[in-house]
Amino acid sequence: MIEVAKRLHTVEEYYFSKKLREVGLLIASGKPIINLGIGSPDLQPPQKVVDAITASFNNPVAHKYQSYQGLPELREAMSAFYKNHFSVSVNAANEILPLMGSKEGIMHISMAYLNEGDEVLIPNPGYPTYQSVTKLVGAKGVLYNLDAANNWMPNLEVLEKQDLSNVKLMWVNYPHMPTGATPTETIFKELVAFGKRHNILIVNDNPYSFVLNDNPKSILSVDGAKEVCLELNSLSKTFNMAGWRVGMVLGNSGHISNILKVKSNMDSGMFYGIQKGAVEALKCSKMWFVTLNSVYKRRRDLVWQLAEALNCTYDKNATGMFVWAKLPAYLKSEEFIDVVLKENHIFITPGTIFGSQGEGYIRFSLCASTEILEEAIARVK
Ligand SMILES: Cc1ncc(COP(=O)(O)O)c(C=O)c1O
Repeated sequence: MIEVAKRLHTVEEYYFSKKLREVGLLIASGKPIINLGIGSPDLQPPQKVVDAITASFNNPVAHKYQSYQGLPELREAMSAFYKNHFSVSVNAANEILPLMGSKEGIMHISMAYLNEGDEVLIPNPGYPTYQSVTKLVGAKGVLYNLDAANNWMPNLEVLEKQDLSNVKLMWVNYPHMPTGATPTETIFKELVAFGKRHNILIVNDNPYSFVLNDNPKSILSVDGAKEVCLELNSLSKTFNMAGWRVGMVLGNSGHISNILKVKSNMDSGMFYGIQKGAVEALKCSKMWFVTLNSVYKRRRDLVWQLAEALNCTYDKNATGMFVWAKLPAYLKSEEFIDVVLKENHIFITPGTIFGSQGEGYIRFSLCASTEILEEAIARVK
């Protein structure tokens, strides 16, 4: 018997990986399941993006290993994107590292900065990968609670009453998944000051800024943020390119070269055609965002109706690709979604997979057509 590494005992198979097997079995048995669980964009990327990757196939360069730092043209496009959309200046030469999706950045950053036993502040509720990667590298996750009463913002005063001496890194994610909360005017400034006071690397994971959000913000827009902050971003949701795997990490050149030390030992560059496609995506005009959001807006109106039909409440100011809805009092998230799956054949994500603060909530994905959403409403009504 070959024993697995101890680190494997610290994590479990990803919730969706398990649950989608169960959903798959229901589908195989003929049940007409509507999947509103996972946030995988079903819309198409811009056509010029697809054209760029197609054109790349006949370029002999496309088939070679690519630069570990990505094409200079891609980093230039990422830098211009940050300037245009966030008014943030990042040097394309050394303050940006293209990633194969922002998810891998969570691992690279953790490997670059965390030693065994270091503490990491992790939002509850939050994206489960922060916690699992922290465990995989042998560090210790310290959850900080977010709640509706505080608009899902971290309470830094409460955190400062804790012993922060072993905390090395803090994950923040605004706009926030799963709740859709947007950063308040002051929170990024407060976080930068907090990071400086306690020598904590603050990483804002920012893949949802362009979905149903009129006011995209970057933590790097705060003066002096680059000293203690990194930001992750991604083309997955902004340009419907989740399967292409394109993301980026931005920050000062010292941090970026530390992350490159890890990443360059793990992969050998991103496929040339994908980089060319990403360049085209990043150059999209405002029209792209207007069109994308008009589709999501129609869908969200329907998901709100679905939530109401299930007697749930929600915040109309929330942003992003999901609707975070509160169940009637005393109902438990996982029991609730199992009943809806069984009775209505609709799969919705229970809030608890994002942490204990998600109890009493469910998350609907907007990655389904209006026809499918109308069918879901009809089934519940
Ligand atoms: C909060 C958050 N961060 C990061 C990711 C990873 O996105 P990607 O690796 O596709 O860029 C996701 C994906 O669902 C997410 O919800």
